[in-house]
Amino acid sequence: MRVVILENSEQVSLRAADLICQLVSSNPQCVLGLATGGTPLGTYQELIVRHRAGQVSFAGVSTFNLDEYVGLPLGHEQSYRSFMHRHLFELADFELSRCHLPDGNAADIPTACCAYEQQIAAAGGIDLQLLGVGSDGHIAFNEPGSSLASRTRIKALTERTRHDNARFFSSLEEVPKLSMTMGVGTILEARRIVLLATGSNKAATVKALVEGPVSAQVPASALQLHPRVDVLLDRAAAADLLRADYYHEVEQIQRGLELQQQIEPVH
Ligand code: GLP
Repeated sequence: MRVVILENSEQVSLRAADLICQLVSSNPQCVLGLATGGTPLGTYQELIVRHRAGQVSFAGVSTFNLDEYVGLPLGHEQSYRSFMHRHLFELADFELSRCHLPDGNAADIPTACCAYEQQIAAAGGIDLQLLGVGSDGHIAFNEPGSSLASRTRIKALTERTRHDNARFFSSLEEVPKLSMTMGVGTILEARRIVLLATGSNKAATVKALVEGPVSAQVPASALQLHPRVDVLLDRAAAADLLRADYYHEVEQIQRGLELQQQIEPVH
């Protein structure tokens, strides 16, 4: 894991946007895995700014979102489909026919889950997966206890996640109890993963995912098994890390070497 501790959430957004834009520039037909939640919003805003400045085009890019609520009415403003259209797809030059989300309203959800996996495979797999992390350690909607080999499926949300996400709804009762989510195994197949975490409410989770044991009780800890993960943190989210000084030192050396273009990023 490459643990990068930045000053603030703005720096996290800028660094994530750098990584995405570098990939899109080198491969305009790349496949991005995208996330929802409050954390990636700054990154999406930065991508839109760079697109409007003529620095990047997403016209050839395909996207796959991590997850979707099950059972929200089509067009509900808190569905992840609405979220992505509102905050990213319609504000840049994405080709909407190549922007995929799980269909939480499918008549046959298990079949739709298999179809989603097949669509990802047919697109050649995900080049870069952007992730946030839930306060209970979930990635996408893989709640604690999720198999680390899981594939796209239905998953029940924990009460904690429903409470966390209630801020986007008018009441807790309105937050769905079920989701359709890529599995941990699906996520681990992405060629590169960039996880973002900001704010003090993520500090304990970040410590568990970076320095704790790999455990289905903290699904994000499975990222330790992936060879190319960047964990981009602000100071508040990094506050509980025991080896923060070491991560800073490694990062300085790493950045220096990269500037001299001597080596590939080390994770
Ligand atoms: C939801 C999403 C996750 C996201 C998490 C954290 O549960 N399914 O993909 O990482 O929220 O959200 P936030 O960034 O708002 O803290």
